[in-house]
Amino acid sequence: MQEDRFATRLAEAGRDGEATFVAANVAVHRASTVLFDTLEATGAAGAAVAEGRARATTYGTVGTPTTMALMDALCEIEGGGHAVRASLMPSGLAAITTALLAVLSPGDHLLVADSSYGPTRVFCDGMLARMGVRTSYYDPTIGAGIAALLRPETKLIWLESPGSYTFEVQDVPAICAIARERGIVTMIDNTWASPIFARPFDWGVDASVLALTKYWGGHSDVLMGAVVVRESLWPKLWAAVRQLGQCASGDDAWLVLRGLRSAEVRMRRHEANALEVARWLEARPEVASVLHPALPSHPQHALWRRDFSGASGLFSFELDRALVASARADGHSATAGDAARASERERAALAALCERRRHFAIGYSWGGFESLVMPAHIDRMRSAKPWTGGPLVRLHVGLEDPADLIADLAEGFEAMGRVLAASGPG
Ligand SMILES: Cc1ncc(COP(=O)(O)O)c(C=O)c1O
Repeated sequence: MQEDRFATRLAEAGRDGEATFVAANVAVHRASTVLFDTLEATGAAGAAVAEGRARATTYGTVGTPTTMALMDALCEIEGGGHAVRASLMPSGLAAITTALLAVLSPGDHLLVADSSYGPTRVFCDGMLARMGVRTSYYDPTIGAGIAALLRPETKLIWLESPGSYTFEVQDVPAICAIARERGIVTMIDNTWASPIFARPFDWGVDASVLALTKYWGGHSDVLMGAVVVRESLWPKLWAAVRQLGQCASGDDAWLVLRGLRSAEVRMRRHEANALEVARWLEARPEVASVLHPALPSHPQHALWRRDFSGASGLFSFELDRALVASARADGHSATAGDAARASERERAALAALCERRRHFAIGYSWGGFESLVMPAHIDRMRSAKPWTGGPLVRLHVGLEDPADLIADLAEGFEAMGRVLAASGPG
């Protein structure tokens, strides 16, 4: 037989693989093209993909052994014994938008928790509004009172518990029970607790959305999202995933699988560290309140105890407004000049507190090993329940020693105190 030519050998050399080598971890498959032995096998795989059958694939966007391993893990861990299916997306936000698009059509009405992740609101008010879907925002503490907000055209209720930045805990089972009676779909963003501390399918939701970017990845080096749905919702989700071309890479799926192996240990450490920092903050004179559901002072602490088995490392605290921007605090900002001075004083105080910390870096996102701080300006992110408290600061407490983190924050408060003293009485 004539030897293959150089260009042919370039395309084919070293592709036999190693069938007898079994590593502890699933291999990374980087694939666009998937090969078949026969046309019949190709057709059968195509039909299985069209039906959305598990583990069927014809192409890299549909699935590889690496992404399928992660989808299996999601069904088992997030599904918690319920009959669910999972799909991967390139980011947590992509998971949110794809889940909503899978179910909503022009003319539908959507109820969204007021404390939902900001970009969720932007999508509802932007692209969904343009498509003719109407969104109303509800007080996240409404519980069974949501019944009064339902319209004949209400198709979906979006939940996020605890909420972004303000950490309200929702009565998810009460809302899901009402929705189920009326045939309304419920979806929750379960990123904060993750399946390690919350089991949304036990609460009755139809879909759970996760930013795997956060605690599943756990190392601030990967972006990914997932939508996990009850079997009944799978055909709609699968259609949306296929039509939108949503998928995730093998490398990223592999990183998330690696993060998952240590997720419980990390989460328990995040929980313990965050609680230590939160309790210390509660005793600080500069702090008006600490918004952490695991603290007895949290307004929905009882609900959190009922429904969650732990808390992650993300929470906020509210600075004493009278201290930080007193011209505004007593309601006597008589002139625009007073208001401008108050807001400049607040900006300078926040900068002194957050900038140049030894351990808390300024950064968006959370769920990685490292501690982060970020002032939260939520005025434009609330409509049903406007925030009326003092300046908010969100912390993600990482895996460092909490004594070092507390010392870092103490230095921040000292720096803030110096800035406030220099700017005179508010
Ligand atoms: C509650 C919540 N859900 C979803 C997301 C989106 O995740 P991603 O950053 O992967 O798009 C975030 C990101 O900060 C988040 O805080």
